[in-house]
Amino acid sequence: MKFFIDTANLAQIKEANELGILDGVTTNPSLMAKEGIKGNDAVMAHYKTICEMVNGDISAEVISTDFKGIVEEGKKLAAIHANIVVKVPMIKDGVKAIKWFTDNGIRTNCTLCFSAGQAILAAKAGAAYISPFIGRIDDSGWDGVQLIEQIVQIYSIQGYKTEVLAASIRNPNHIVQCAQAGADVCTCPLDSILGLLKHPLTDIGLAKFLEDAKKM
Ligand code: G3P
Repeated sequence: MKFFIDTANLAQIKEANELGILDGVTTNPSLMAKEGIKGNDAVMAHYKTICEMVNGDISAEVISTDFKGIVEEGKKLAAIHANIVVKVPMIKDGVKAIKWFTDNGIRTNCTLCFSAGQAILAAKAGAAYISPFIGRIDDSGWDGVQLIEQIVQIYSIQGYKTEVLAASIRNPNHIVQCAQAGADVCTCPLDSILGLLKHPLTDIGLAKFLEDAKKM
């Protein structure tokens, strides 16, 4: 399973990248706004900076919701760097645009996926990635990991090439469950990635080894 970081924060991207386990970055308008990135030039420059920091796929999301607008915006985003993947919402014009991008050699990440039916449509349109939001599904009283399992199974049976990118990750256990469910990618906040490191027995064991090392 590939590890992406789900942020537009450059310090966090740098920290995850320095761990040596980072395969890419996902952003969205909320994450960009959180970093105070305002205006088209600043947004484009920020994506370019991220592309230069991380050697992997970088998802950049369109904010248009009509076919023509999504295509025009996506073309500009894709021109920033070869690693840009255009992130398109799961709406009718989004599906049409994903098919257009597929036919024109531009890779897409279909976002805001909350059902297996949506994942089938995205795969049919040729999306490179489908992003089911598992945390938001859990928040609404359903089981996000179960949706990952279902999409992975359908894609395998049907031979779809679209990669399952588990998004809206809330904790380290989500990452483990997505790996077990067969997700191709997990995009995570830095805290969830670093949370994978933690185990009290590791800390106790290390303290004991360091104590005993003084007697060596
Ligand atoms: O990038 C999309 C997704 O990961 C959003 O996560 O935490 O806002 O539900 P969240």
